[in-house]
Amino acid sequence: MTATVPYRVEVVTNPTAVAGVLAKLHVSCFAGSPQDTWSDCAISTLLNTPGTIGLIALGSKEEAIGFIIGRAVADEGEVLTLCVSPASRRHGVATALVGQLREYLFSHHQIFLEVAITNRAARDLYQSLGFQEVGRRTAYYRRGGKSVDALVMASGRSDGPGRLLKKHMN
Ligand SMILES: CC(C)(COP(=O)(O)OP(=O)(O)OC[C@H]1O[C@@H](n2cnc3c(N)ncnc32)[C@H](O)[C@@H]1OP(=O)(O)O)[C@@H](O)C(=O)NCCC(=O)NCCS
Repeated sequence: MTATVPYRVEVVTNPTAVAGVLAKLHVSCFAGSPQDTWSDCAISTLLNTPGTIGLIALGSKEEAIGFIIGRAVADEGEVLTLCVSPASRRHGVATALVGQLREYLFSHHQIFLEVAITNRAARDLYQSLGFQEVGRRTAYYRRGGKSVDALVMASGRSDGPGRLLKKHMN
């Protein structure tokens, strides 16, 4: 981490209201792989689905600088997308988002995600957070007309469900 930037992380409570902002941020974050970007409609639909949670990082002017979407599936969790604006990178924002997702959604459950084998930044991030490679999906992504494999990564399992999952189980 090179320096600190002021930001805070909040749960997305009104997906429909913020979906447009999140979609724009997603596009700017995935500029090198536009096929991975999601529309505001897709984001809104996903965030309104039970078991799914969105966390947003807000900068000092209340602007969205990053977000993560995850979901609980049975006793497991999944990171569906994660992005941080280019200007706010290497300040621990993604680390905070993943950390809070674990806390809110499935802090004690195994969390899975897929990452392009060519995405060094994300692979290093997840590794630094304790995720390990558990599999590979061949030709999972398309990049510039070429197929790129996805690594499946998973965090460790411990001994009980996180807060949101507990709520869903009640
Ligand atoms: C991947 C991404 C989310 C990282 O966000 P970030 O806020 O910059 O990440 P952090 O500051 O929390 O980084 C934590 C650690 O991850 C690793 N890391 C992050 N970016 C890295 C990079 N560009 N190169 C190498 N390691 C990197 C480092 O170990 C870093 O710790 P350090 O800064 O102390 O060296 C961001 O680059 C991004 O949005 N990329 C485009 C979208 C994307 O690829 N999303 C993930 C899809 S699976």
